[in-house]
Amino acid sequence: MRRDKKAKPMQAAAAECPPMRILAIESSCDESAVAVLDAQQGLLSHTLFSQIELHRVYGGVVPELASRDHVRRLLPLLRQALHEADTDAAQLSGVAYTAGPGLVGALLVGAAVAQSYAFAQGLPTVAVHHLEGHLLAPLLEDDPPPFPHLALLVSGGHTMLIRVNGLGDYQLLGETRDDAAGEAFDKTAKLLGLPYPGGPELARLAVHGRSGVFDFPRPMLDRPGLEFSFSGLKTAVALAARAQPLDEVRRADIARGVQDAIVETLLRKTARAIEHTGLAHVVVSGGVGANLALREGLAALLRARGGRIYHPRIAFCTDNAAMIAVAGLLRLQRGEGSHDLTIRARAQWPLAELSANNVPAAPVPWSFSSFKEQA
Ligand code: KG4
Ligand code: ZN
Repeated sequence: MRRDKKAKPMQAAAAECPPMRILAIESSCDESAVAVLDAQQGLLSHTLFSQIELHRVYGGVVPELASRDHVRRLLPLLRQALHEADTDAAQLSGVAYTAGPGLVGALLVGAAVAQSYAFAQGLPTVAVHHLEGHLLAPLLEDDPPPFPHLALLVSGGHTMLIRVNGLGDYQLLGETRDDAAGEAFDKTAKLLGLPYPGGPELARLAVHGRSGVFDFPRPMLDRPGLEFSFSGLKTAVALAARAQPLDEVRRADIARGVQDAIVETLLRKTARAIEHTGLAHVVVSGGVGANLALREGLAALLRARGGRIYHPRIAFCTDNAAMIAVAGLLRLQRGEGSHDLTIRARAQWPLAELSANNVPAAPVPWSFSSFKEQA
């Protein structure tokens, strides 16, 4: 890992905020990750271990195996993150951890490690909402989005259009009624015999396929509103994949058809949300935000409307601890650190609860970008 020493304009603004440094832990699903973020210097380190190989033989995440692997990985990752950040506990202001939503066993491991470490070091903790992490991940980049903006949050478990007014003020405009976009990628990829996780694999295969050979359904487009539904795609793809021979050309054409259907649906609903809100600055975040066809489609859509797209770098689209550190640090700065020893882990945690219980939206006037490349 290497730190970028080049001064950046946003860092000047960051230097004005109070000195704080946070350690953050993410363990909501199949990635164990730890990061150290400094309010003035930006991201000092982030470490991650992906359990993809562990779950691949089962074709999906096995929750019990995920929890056990977090137990194995988190402490070495924590030591490594502190070492790479050249930080000891005395320099930390608090510890953030993902408290939900996610796999409850996996969450409990990260929460227990965070609470134990914080208790031992006399530090406050912040229980972070995983989706708030995804929403704020673009603040790690050089050119962060202005507030308010529109967010398209597309992950393995969620597909949401959100009006983001500021920290803790998230207005849900529409979400999926059934499968999430990432789930649709993963399930259809499985039907094509692609390994887990299917999203990136299907996207790779789609590059070789032809648009228009398979015209899969784009549900909910003919209805008003900003809701999504992706569950029908599986049936259509299962039928297409049944016809023999399922050779490479047909598989690639099906993959292309699936990607086109998902991306077009996301683009059309986003366009509708832009019209509805008048916001043309759009953040795309969550694992599916790594999809290049989606990024390119959104960029074109926004160019045509005089707006622009903001996204975290690919590594911070999928699950990571840097985004948890951003949310944790902003909340710590707002006085939300706690010495309560409760280990918080919620499998279900509606994003709306964050806005409902909160003090008014806080402005977020800087970005944390100062760490650009990893060796
Ligand atoms: O945000 P994330 O890492 O975990 C959740 O919070 O769910 O998202 C994972 C999802 C998976 O469904 C994965 O297949 C999908 O993001 N994904 C992609 C791509 N990279 C990851 N889907 C389509 N194209 C990609 N390039
Ligand atoms: Zn996620």
